[in-house]
Amino acid sequence: MIPTSVTLVEVGPRDGLQNEAQPVSAAQKVELVQRLQAAGCREIEVTSFVSPKWVPQMADNAEVMAGIRRQSGVRYSVLTPNMKGLEAALPTRPDEIVVFGAATEAFSQRNINCSIADSIERFRPVVAAAHAAGIKVRGAVSCALGCPYQGEVSADEVERVVRLLKDIGVDHCGIADTIGVGTPRRAQAALERALKHYPLAEVSGHFHDTYGQALANIYASLELGLHVFDTSIAGLGGCPYAKGATGNVATEDVVFMLHGMGIATGIDLDLLVDAGGYISDALGRPPVSRVGKTLLAKRRQAAAAA
Ligand code: HMG
Ligand code: MG
Repeated sequence: MIPTSVTLVEVGPRDGLQNEAQPVSAAQKVELVQRLQAAGCREIEVTSFVSPKWVPQMADNAEVMAGIRRQSGVRYSVLTPNMKGLEAALPTRPDEIVVFGAATEAFSQRNINCSIADSIERFRPVVAAAHAAGIKVRGAVSCALGCPYQGEVSADEVERVVRLLKDIGVDHCGIADTIGVGTPRRAQAALERALKHYPLAEVSGHFHDTYGQALANIYASLELGLHVFDTSIAGLGGCPYAKGATGNVATEDVVFMLHGMGIATGIDLDLLVDAGGYISDALGRPPVSRVGKTLLAKRRQAAAAA
């Protein structure tokens, strides 16, 4: 069942930076995207078209989209929670958009200010308009393995939202562990519910690493044959509406594990570490990625010894 190649969706520029307290300029975000694509990332979540009052760090969405130097074969995606977001996003020519729902009512309210049912009604015209423009739609199910407000989340609750996303025509379903509490068998149970409604290639794992479970959850997902995962360069990030939650699993760590297992990613780990070093220097702190930190330290030692 274990796949021989895996697609990583790099979400660092969006999920990684959306919660960043210090300013990150549009030029720095563009440079990060540039370095990620140079490293071989073929799917990059660039920004989100959400309310700048809610998420100020993404207010430069159009500027960032205009600044990126597009490379053929790379897909650039953006988050669009409603028609206003989609209308702002379309002129910036995203290859893919993302609607994001939640498995719990409490998180839906906190994150997007509406109930699950209302969120689906907001997404419905977004999906239709994106499809009319020839744009693929990914959907995310937040809090699939636990909720900061409700606590435990059942696989039934996850499947309910998966089915709702499927009903409105969402093409791909991401199972998201927003607060990183999931463990491998729980992750498999939630993914299996998504796989009842979506083909293997259209289900992905989005694991935040708050409790250090993300690599184990990815391994457990590989056992189901899953081969698409969201990851964040340097392990950047957190969700503004999930206090204390840390970033997604670091891209460097996932690439190291996959390459060690003989699974292809198309990514050059050295160049990826450069990208992680770049954004970490810009933020003035070391990468969260263990692999990134270790390889950067080795480079410094080698330079000092030379
Ligand atoms: P709302 O207040 O319900 O929306 O917000 P509204 O339609 O009532 O509009 C209120 C104001 O927002 C108006 O402005 C609108 O123009 C404006 P005002 O008249 O007050 O000046 N507005 C917008 N502005 C820009 N872009 C838009 C937009 N829509 C309305 N698209 C809304 C609803 C969803 C917009 C709001 O709740 C919001 O922006 N929330 C932020 C959600 C977010 O970005 N969360 C983080 C990303 S999701 C995530 O990280 C999870 C994920 O990684 C998976 C996982 O880990 O779980 C994907
Ligand atoms: Mg996330």
